[in-house]
Amino acid sequence: MSVGKHKPHESAELHVTGKAIYTDEQRPPLGMLSVYPVIAPHAKAKILSIDTSKAAEVEGFVTVLTAEDVPGRNNTGVIVQDEVLFPTEEISYWGQAVVWAVGETEEAARLAASKVTIDYEPLEPILSIKDAISHHSFHSKAHPVKRGNVQTALENSAFTLSGEVSVNGQDHFYLETQTSWVIPDGEGNYQVYSSTQHPTETQVIIGRVLNLPSNQITVTCIRMGGAFGGKESQANPYAAIAAIAAHKTGRPVRVKLKRSHDMTLTGKRHGFLGIYQVGFSETGKIMALDVDLYADGGWSLDLSPPVLLRAMLHVDNAYYIPDVEVRGAIAKTNKVSNTAYRGFGGPQGMIVIEDIVDRIARTLNLPPELVRERNFYYGSDETNTTHYGQELFDNRLDRVWSEVQANANFAERKIAIAEFNQAHRYKKRGIAITPVKFGISFNKTQYNQAGALIHIYTDGSIQLNHGGTEMGQGLHTKMLQVAASSLGVKLDRFRMMNTSTDKVPNSSATAASSGSDLNGQAIKNACETLKARLANVAIQLLDLDTPEDLVFEDDWIYCRSYPSARVSFAEVVDRAYNARVSLSATGYYRTPNIHWNPETCTGRPFYYFAYGAAVSEVEVDGFTGTYKLRQVDIVHDVGESLNPLVDRGQVEGGFVQGMGWLTMEELVWDEQGRLRTDAPSTYKIPTICEIPEAFNVHLLKRAAQDGVIYGSKAVGEPPFMLAMSVREAIRAAIAAFGQTDTVSLPSPATPETVLWAIESVRTHSSQEVTVSSEA
Ligand code: MTE
Ligand code: MOS
Repeated sequence: MSVGKHKPHESAELHVTGKAIYTDEQRPPLGMLSVYPVIAPHAKAKILSIDTSKAAEVEGFVTVLTAEDVPGRNNTGVIVQDEVLFPTEEISYWGQAVVWAVGETEEAARLAASKVTIDYEPLEPILSIKDAISHHSFHSKAHPVKRGNVQTALENSAFTLSGEVSVNGQDHFYLETQTSWVIPDGEGNYQVYSSTQHPTETQVIIGRVLNLPSNQITVTCIRMGGAFGGKESQANPYAAIAAIAAHKTGRPVRVKLKRSHDMTLTGKRHGFLGIYQVGFSETGKIMALDVDLYADGGWSLDLSPPVLLRAMLHVDNAYYIPDVEVRGAIAKTNKVSNTAYRGFGGPQGMIVIEDIVDRIARTLNLPPELVRERNFYYGSDETNTTHYGQELFDNRLDRVWSEVQANANFAERKIAIAEFNQAHRYKKRGIAITPVKFGISFNKTQYNQAGALIHIYTDGSIQLNHGGTEMGQGLHTKMLQVAASSLGVKLDRFRMMNTSTDKVPNSSATAASSGSDLNGQAIKNACETLKARLANVAIQLLDLDTPEDLVFEDDWIYCRSYPSARVSFAEVVDRAYNARVSLSATGYYRTPNIHWNPETCTGRPFYYFAYGAAVSEVEVDGFTGTYKLRQVDIVHDVGESLNPLVDRGQVEGGFVQGMGWLTMEELVWDEQGRLRTDAPSTYKIPTICEIPEAFNVHLLKRAAQDGVIYGSKAVGEPPFMLAMSVREAIRAAIAAFGQTDTVSLPSPATPETVLWAIESVRTHSSQEVTVSSEA
């Protein structure tokens, strides 16, 4: 069996030798043109006039694209069509591309773009969630998710607290910026190469702007240099621009955003504001939670509704709350259109309850970990059922929680840290443990399907196609393992093909961590079809009556009861061809047993949950607010791992990215709504220097998950939220600087904010319960 093995990423060698081909590193077709945007220097403005005449003076100038060049609809919106591609009347955010210049070279396009003059009448922009609330500027409001009667439960609670949690957005900072090539064939068809997580949607959007049927557009994704949700919908507009330019000029066209454009133009993780009231008992048991979640949607809707819904469905994290009401709204602001990002709203929902749990613990003077575990989902009835009515069939919270505490030596280290803090006045340490429960499946039910296509050639070599895209997460590696195991052949028979809409149509985004779950089952399905056909050939060669007991293993086919009589896979394939048996098959899968009622907001939206827990220890410097992450221990549940090496990489990478979000990555927009942190010099993502000094990652053992491909579980997003332990550890260290029952910690918890928080705990020692605190 190939699954379950430590296989290196299928492209690891190509990655490290620099030989891996990404979209923009293919051999360019002859005469390929480049484009460059003319961006608006206002967050909100009326467009008074556009003059492109001077651009033609530039050597190498080809043309300028405006709204008039769009043969179909001038709109790339995905859930609703509210995303104008070439704005003609109004600017909606700073940096919005108004027109695009086309040149023989990128330099010619850039110079031509600089010659375009546009007159604006600036208008007052809305730049924050609070601004949007006071102006009643919303894209939409969500149906509330609720259980019980929250008002009565709050009134009956021994204690209540109210407050706000405000969290920052996050730039995806994939190493490869948004890129697309569009190559017209001269007969009206278009071959598109795009760095997109969702080739089918890119195909649909290009069809819409060009007014062409989908069958004239093929979208291929070779591999992405990172995506993290940022290429789920946000790849589409740039592919559309290249397609419109290719349509207008009849020549191949390339779009590749430079970093500052990528950061200024494309959507990010949604910043959120949570306003809550919580009721709890003397023992720290949460009785009631009433919360409003506001997502900063930016200028257009994009994927904000499902992002908000996921936040609303994860506001419980791992905790059973008897009476809950969660309301949600998407603020419409004059900023980039925020989008999918690892966790897809989950982190923004979960951080609210983690913030609350810590406040409860400090209010009651109880250890935060005790309050956490007292509130865990448990049992087999209502107390193990979420606020939207889904039972946690296979609740593994206790397992990950106790294992990680044992691995980390949590209890002893906590005592040692208290001693350290007694002995040190200007340096304090903090340790914290936080759980993760994350629902797996797309909220949008129809996305939970996948297809595959396998061709076996007469020499026994095989091409493997599936609908998922590779962004570094190791999906292709796992899919090769699944195919090799299902077909009972060696891994090296396979060539993984580029993801392409002409091979597997109507594919879903590779997102929601479900790439392996969905495509793996579709591949297995195709393999079973092929095996059934080959089995009929093999029994003739083996002189058997029935294929019932046949085993396909390691390039051999034999009967279980006579393993010594065997035929090789290659021989059976050769015979099959000569006997006119088809060697090509499609596979298909849809997730069973999931349902969701959008009116009542109840159902079983998730096929299952992934669980994890992390212990983090930090040391904070009282003079500077800087800190270092001394040790991290993780136990994470990936089911029966398809590939422990790849999964470990996902756990580590997800954790570090989550840590970046919570502690370093700061998006700063100025008063004009211009993003000032649009480069790696000003926008700091974690580097090797921020990796914890000791980083111990364990995958939960004996954890096979029923009904999922080879017992595995999705791993792409859940570990991101393990990083909440870092934030809580910093909070614990800050608390040690004073005598306080509350530590307000903004997000991201940069050294500057940590310093202010230390100042504040040194001066205030206590707060009144029921008084609202600013987060
Ligand atoms: N890992 C790498 N290296 N690069 C990425 O872009 N994206 C993440 C995660 N891990 C990403 C990654 C996100 S947002 C998701 S949803 C999943 O991978 C998608 O892939 P999967 O469904 O195959 O896990
Ligand atoms: Mo991931 S945010 O679902 O692409």
